[in-house]
Amino acid sequence: MEVKQMLLLGIFFLNGLLLSMASNVHHYSFILKETNFTRLCFTKPMLTVNEQFPGPTIHVRKGDTAFVNVHNDGQYGVTIHWHGVKQPQNPWSDGPENITQCPIQPGKNFTYEVIFSDEEGTLWWHAHSDWSRATVHGHIVILPEIGKTYPFPEPYAEQTIFLASWFNTDVKELIDDATLVGGDPDPSDGFTINGWPGALYNCSNETIYTLGVEYGKTYLLRLVSGVMNEEMFFGIAGHNFTVVAQDAAYIKPIVTSYIMITPGQTMDILLTADQSPSYYYIAASPFFDSGAPFDNTTTTAILRYTNATAVPSSIPFPSLPSTTDKESADNFTTKIRALASEDHPISAGNCSGPQGNRLAASLNNISFSIPTIDILQAYYRFNLSRDDEFPNQPPVYFNFTGDEADDYILPEVGTKAKWIEYGASVEIVYQGTNIGNAENHPMHLHGYSFYVVGSAYGNWNETTSPATYNLIDPPEVNTVGVPKNGWTAVRFVANNPGVWFMHCHLERHASWGMDTVIIVKNGPTNETSIRPPPPNLPTCAA
Ligand code: C2O
Ligand code: CU
Repeated sequence: MEVKQMLLLGIFFLNGLLLSMASNVHHYSFILKETNFTRLCFTKPMLTVNEQFPGPTIHVRKGDTAFVNVHNDGQYGVTIHWHGVKQPQNPWSDGPENITQCPIQPGKNFTYEVIFSDEEGTLWWHAHSDWSRATVHGHIVILPEIGKTYPFPEPYAEQTIFLASWFNTDVKELIDDATLVGGDPDPSDGFTINGWPGALYNCSNETIYTLGVEYGKTYLLRLVSGVMNEEMFFGIAGHNFTVVAQDAAYIKPIVTSYIMITPGQTMDILLTADQSPSYYYIAASPFFDSGAPFDNTTTTAILRYTNATAVPSSIPFPSLPSTTDKESADNFTTKIRALASEDHPISAGNCSGPQGNRLAASLNNISFSIPTIDILQAYYRFNLSRDDEFPNQPPVYFNFTGDEADDYILPEVGTKAKWIEYGASVEIVYQGTNIGNAENHPMHLHGYSFYVVGSAYGNWNETTSPATYNLIDPPEVNTVGVPKNGWTAVRFVANNPGVWFMHCHLERHASWGMDTVIIVKNGPTNETSIRPPPPNLPTCAA
């Protein structure tokens, strides 16, 4: 193929440049506005931050604070969420619309105080109002504290890589129309790498992201999947690479030729440019093992050695697993283990023994309805009543993953929260069901990361499943893929008071009510209680 794309050459931020941030408080200004973008020969105005797609990267060090003033010059109310940032005691700046705040209305602004604690690695931010995250998103890069280093050799340079979905039509209209008729929203028209669909689409000759590398050097790629509705395989032709972190926590290095990444997840990858200096395709294509409609296209970028002499007549392409290859998906995900070193310890063992706070099954037959007020304010100011509590168990136990599951398809619609005492050890078992189009579900919890202690196909069993748990080096993540017709058990200590959203990170499912809210009550002291609200919280429209 023709390579005219050098103008889009990736620029590396050398680590040295980042040392200029001496202070631990950072200020960012985000202007939300509609800007015209053209991809796949379709031009449309779309909501972006600072006219960028993907949006600007936030750079901090572990434990820093970032103040982000979000000014909405768009046409409808929006909020921003800092995905994977725990925000201790500070749910006010977490962002999900009508869960922790009302939307920032057009013409208004709000300053988020984003408080980092133990996160280190890569996270991301995105809009959290309907489907606006399709175009309103960007990286968060969290370096080690000054004086600390990565638990792997210092890379020569690093680069952010953002996987996203591209829709030729307006995303707000798409989901509003689908919601109106209760149908499946149209799949996206393509995927993008750093904003560009790549060589395998119409009209894409000049729109491919190119990553320039020097022979012999090692690069840290900070990969985010902001894809809307599909899990993705990702690989680089001719190169194995090493995955060293997931969701801003280090893992034991995994050498692999491909990864599987769900919407919402991040992975840090070390890539050594040790192959013959040339051009290689980078590609991502969906892993989608379900009958629902999906986007079955492949996005590409180019890895270009800076000393490559000529573009080869055919650029090598990575061999990615096929769309329905769940063995390959599992092969990768089951390798992920926490680093669990002295500097990066884990503490899932603390949770051993169910302390009465076990939630079982897939959101327990409550289809979550987002309220028109915001739950955090209702809870904080008006003593939200506990009458409508989210149930601890599903209403009926049936063979969740069996063929008869379709007999149980009618959930109750409700806005129910699960209340948890401060400091409780919590185990949640996400039980996938075979209702409708069974699918993998990337489950995400705000305000926490959790240990993934177990996962398997079939039904979780109270006596046999816990015996399989990994309490030695379970990965600590904020988003976990629950296998199709399987279960995943996670544990965390409820040490962050607040109102925290929990939902499937496939937007179709989140829109359909695969969401709930966890309210972690205040502890006995100020340090264990929610901070007072900021003075400039957006007001709720009447
Ligand atoms: Cu990526 Cu509710 O968030
Ligand atoms: Cu889902």
